[in-house]
Amino acid sequence: MALVPRVFLTAEQIQNRVREMGAQISADYPEGPLYLISILKGAFIFMADLSRHIKTPSRIEFMGISSYGRGKTSSGEVKVTKDLDVSIEGHHVLIVEDIVDSGVTLTYLMNLLEQRRPKSLAIATLLDKPEKRLRPVHVAYVGFQIPDEFVVGYGLDFAEDYRNLGDICVLSED
Ligand code: IMP
Ligand code: MG
Repeated sequence: MALVPRVFLTAEQIQNRVREMGAQISADYPEGPLYLISILKGAFIFMADLSRHIKTPSRIEFMGISSYGRGKTSSGEVKVTKDLDVSIEGHHVLIVEDIVDSGVTLTYLMNLLEQRRPKSLAIATLLDKPEKRLRPVHVAYVGFQIPDEFVVGYGLDFAEDYRNLGDICVLSED
């Protein structure tokens, strides 16, 4: 059976929402520097778009975390594959994530970054699948709440494919 991507959120819908999120974040953080920490690779496009709608002087950082294998389900095991090379102590930090699913990845990351004593620590995610949550995690900024479907595009992958789609698509069997 072939996997077919079907459009779920258009590039235009995404852009409109990302612009709103940027305005909200700009209002909530009047003073910089704001450290935007994005999780590779899934959040790279969201980071690029969101950061350009944030008026607060910002610094762009990336971390690598792996919790998924090559398939659609979490392995449950989280590890840092690329750490920050700057200190976040005393700074406002916003984690920029593509999607919150079980919450395992972000719970781990929040605990890890909290230990580094930032001035504040919050999460912005483009997508949220609340039905799949295993760990409670407070997400300050959510682009879209979506049902429990596997989605790809706009940075999100299935086994490293589909990241370059402009729309967000549901991957379903034909
Ligand atoms: P969590 O630890 O289960 O919350 O997993 C979050 C990570 O799993 C995300 O950052 C994505 O990399 C990946 N993920 C979860 N759901 C999807 C999906 O529907 N499509 C693509 N990746 C997903
Ligand atoms: Mg991710």
